Amino acid sequence: MRVSWQGLYDEIYACEKCGLCRNIHNKVPGQGDVNASLMFIGEGPGADEDLQGLAFVGAAGQLLTKMISAMGMTREKVYICNIVKCRPPQNRVPDPAEAAACLPYLRQQVALVRPRVIVLLGSTAAKTLLREDFRITRERGKWIEKKGVWFMPTYHPAALLRDESKKRDVWNDLKLVMAKLKELEAIAHGGPENA
Ligand code: URA
Repeated sequence: MRVSWQGLYDEIYACEKCGLCRNIHNKVPGQGDVNASLMFIGEGPGADEDLQGLAFVGAAGQLLTKMISAMGMTREKVYICNIVKCRPPQNRVPDPAEAAACLPYLRQQVALVRPRVIVLLGSTAAKTLLREDFRITRERGKWIEKKGVWFMPTYHPAALLRDESKKRDVWNDLKLVMAKLKELEAIAHGGPENA
């Protein structure tokens, strides 16, 4: 399956595969560097994202921007998107059928960007992409490798806004991400002895 970005965006904008599209202002496909080695995946658009058509631009998004800059990067150098592309009413968690209906778009985004590392922000992203019974509190912070892509599940920035004490764990997880990117870069540029 090889699609173009234009084809993918056309499909997302035309999509009516679940009921979420009935009450939105804008679809929120995601944005960033289409060649990024690092991708962040959240849950679904909130009110600000729905109004602007852009992922992670509200309060949680501003915190995500700070997290990315603490990693020595910018939002423009990573790719940011969500499990579902339409805002669930009252910001409820997307149900598994809605997540499943939207998943082919995310898979196409991953296939086009080809990131080396994917940070899963929160339980919905981890449950949808790793395991239905994934427990973010117990299982975050550990690498899961699938077909050469490294997944790091961590707390969602909105959870950090509710509970500051989670920030330390997330920062530790992001340090693992920085180290993994460096290691993969070294391998790409001269074999494992440089890692
Ligand atoms: N929360 C998310 O999961 N995604 C966004 O884009 C904004 C808030």
